[in-house]
Amino acid sequence: MKNVLVIYYSQSGQLESIAQNVSKPFLESEDIKLTFYEIQLEKPFPFPWNKDSFFDAFPESFLQIPATLKPVPDEILNTKFDLVLFHYQVWYLSPSIPINSFLKSNDAKKILNGTPVITISGSRNMWIMAQEKIKVLLKEANADLVGNIALVDRVGNLISVITIVEWMFSGVKKKYLGIFPLPGVSEKDIRESDQFGKIMADALHQNNLANLQPKLVAAGGVRISSYLVTVDKTANKIFNKWSNLIYKNQKNRKKLLKVFNVYLFLAIWLISPIVYILHLITYPLKLTKIKKETQYYQGV
Ligand SMILES: Cc1cc2nc3c(=O)[nH]c(=O)nc-3n(C[C@H](O)[C@H](O)[C@H](O)COP(=O)(O)O)c2cc1C
Repeated sequence: MKNVLVIYYSQSGQLESIAQNVSKPFLESEDIKLTFYEIQLEKPFPFPWNKDSFFDAFPESFLQIPATLKPVPDEILNTKFDLVLFHYQVWYLSPSIPINSFLKSNDAKKILNGTPVITISGSRNMWIMAQEKIKVLLKEANADLVGNIALVDRVGNLISVITIVEWMFSGVKKKYLGIFPLPGVSEKDIRESDQFGKIMADALHQNNLANLQPKLVAAGGVRISSYLVTVDKTANKIFNKWSNLIYKNQKNRKKLLKVFNVYLFLAIWLISPIVYILHLITYPLKLTKIKKETQYYQGV
């Protein structure tokens, strides 16, 4: 009998439903005992968000400052798991506050110590650098990252900004104004994520987790857009400055967050289209670098 732990946090239920679909093949296997664990905060974040709460989460998300969590039940802490399926979402290009709080906790260090982990993200589309931060946190917890898949909203970058903001501020996954596509990871991608679960469960049965990642990539579990990698990296450098400035100036926090809000609006609607055009023009010159980068980010 193998013990598998499914860890997740979800506000809208999207990541929970991804977790349920990915774990289906594990549930169907008679020699796997599956345990679900939902990360819970002592003081939950609001959902739906409003403008103030949404921007207020920025400095602590980006600086990865942990919040207090409810303790993990003893029966989970006292079990040695053969595999952990770790589901997370991205907030401000970083693991969300509940996720980073969990990974930094002593409970997580106990569960993950020497344990194989597969990361499964459900984000808008900008998850690359967050995954790099997850890799660091997993290393610090002495976990063994053996696989990763990233589920994203596949509509265009700017369209998904509009639809996700509407979703996060209304709490309802609907077609904005009746004309925009549905926000978030598509129903089809969520439903079909059990195919990745099957590949993971087979690798566990065959004691072959070390060779799992190329199979997940071949099945389409990790798609890399070189344009989004460029935006993600550049925005990380700028967010680093903003988050430190705001966090170190608590007295002016509210005012600075308002300025950051304006900056973000301009960055998305003015700077990112310019970056896109520059990216297209320079694309042929960067092919070798992009190929290398893609291989790296598809790996673990
Ligand atoms: C405060 C906040 C910031 C977010 N920042 C990002 C981001 O930087 N990149 C991204 O791809 N998605 C981002 N998202 C979308 C989330 O990763 C996620 O897809 C969405 O919140 C749904 O997750 P849920 O299952 O918790 O409801 C953000 C969401 C929130 C609420």
